[in-house]
Amino acid sequence: MYDDNVTLLGLKKEIDETKQGQVLYYDQENNGLRKFYIESYGCAMNFSDSEIVASILAGEGYGPTKDMEQADLILVNTCSIREKAEDTVRNRLRVFNSLKTKKPDMLIGVLGCMAERLKAKLLEQEKLVDIVVGPDAYRDLPNLISKADDGEKGINVLLSREETYADISPLRLDSNGIVGFISIMRGCDNMCSFCVVPFTRGRERSRDAYSIVAEAQDLYNRGFRDVTLLGQNVDSYKWTSPDEAEHVNFAQLLERVALVHPDLRIRFSTSHPKDITDEVLYTMAKYENICKYIHLPVQSGNSRILELMNRTYDREWYMERVTSIYRILPDCAISSDMIAGFCTETEDEHQDTISMIKFARYSMSYMFFYSERPGTLAAKKLVDDIPEEIKKRRLQEIVDTQVKMSLEVNLLDIGKVFKVLIEGDSRRSDQEFKGRNSQNKMINFPKKDGLKAGEYTWVKVTDATSGSLRGEIVTQP
Ligand code: SAH
Ligand code: SF4
Ligand code: F3S
Repeated sequence: MYDDNVTLLGLKKEIDETKQGQVLYYDQENNGLRKFYIESYGCAMNFSDSEIVASILAGEGYGPTKDMEQADLILVNTCSIREKAEDTVRNRLRVFNSLKTKKPDMLIGVLGCMAERLKAKLLEQEKLVDIVVGPDAYRDLPNLISKADDGEKGINVLLSREETYADISPLRLDSNGIVGFISIMRGCDNMCSFCVVPFTRGRERSRDAYSIVAEAQDLYNRGFRDVTLLGQNVDSYKWTSPDEAEHVNFAQLLERVALVHPDLRIRFSTSHPKDITDEVLYTMAKYENICKYIHLPVQSGNSRILELMNRTYDREWYMERVTSIYRILPDCAISSDMIAGFCTETEDEHQDTISMIKFARYSMSYMFFYSERPGTLAAKKLVDDIPEEIKKRRLQEIVDTQVKMSLEVNLLDIGKVFKVLIEGDSRRSDQEFKGRNSQNKMINFPKKDGLKAGEYTWVKVTDATSGSLRGEIVTQP
């Protein structure tokens, strides 16, 4: 979810006219629409925001295209989390700029976290950028576009304490129509010392619980069967109704969404180890359709480094949370994020991260080496003193340990039977389906007549690698 890869809001023409929601097709012929092309980088929240942006543009009569050469407006929704993520975007801007020299009327807009971090500097550094919009200002896009049309630069990077885009129905352009994402909150009030997100996304705010449940219901009605509730720290979700009569915490929200329909699977990301409560774990245990999978980033396995990172928990606290998860949810899978080579990290402290992988038995992890970000607490107060080759070597050791662990836990699944939601053809063959189990593991298995994507089936695991499982359809146990 956090890799720095590009994903297009793709070509699928599958939004069903007969169902609720907006209907928009890519590359409709000759309909006179101005066309926009959008690329998204960074985390799931950014991809989810692009769907909000697409919806706002559709309201202005813009049609989406997947061919940037056809576009009147090129947008790039950017990520600042690591230097590499920003470098990737700068490279893409160069490509867009060369198009613009051939087609001067075309507008180029930078959205998201880099827009927020660099603000007007982006207009100076990247001469051919016309529009810069921060994550809380997307409603202003139509206005900024018309400014840019008139030859002015359009910029709005104001952060908000209230904006949650609760009333905007996202336009799900890149979806398979089965798996969807719902933003339940924005911003982050934690101040992890390495992290740029509180600066780019602003203060934490929770979205109206009713609008979240309504969006889940709408997705279910349109055939979606797997929704992920998104936030930087979902466990601190807290919504109070305007009359202050109702308070909803994350466990209660989970329950409300789970009640939408037993066939709608609920996932969530990201949980913060300091905030995940037993109430959440018991709610997960109570509902079969709340997936038994928790993304619980540890960042480091060493208490001194965790303190320098300002994560507000230590190794023992984290281990207790993992123990509680496996006690309350014995079949739960846990995954993690880890940073190698944070400021002043010693070899012994690095070994604590390695041993944490073994203790927590992560099914998978996103692993990074530390990248200092301007403006963060770590950049101001700590010295980025671990040489790059040591960071990379430690990262490799973390990756190697995780790959072994993933294989070890996946091998234990051989012989087990899982309920799997079919998501489509497997990557390797159209004779095979792919789908995930509750634990978020991908399983490939030979097709059977009468079954199709969006349906559940039971699969017995016959083989495993570190990255996925293989199996065969069986009758319900
Ligand atoms: N809100 C989530 C994380 C969001 S950022 C959480 O608290 O867990 C996604 C991941 O990027 C982080 O978990 C962290 O592992 C990584 N990351 C963030 N800043 C980084 C930096 N400066 N250098 C390297 N990795 C970083
Ligand atoms: Fe960044 Fe920490 Fe907030 Fe996650 S919880 S987004 S790592 S500041
Ligand atoms: Fe990147 Fe912003 Fe997400 S910095 S990880 S796109 S919140």
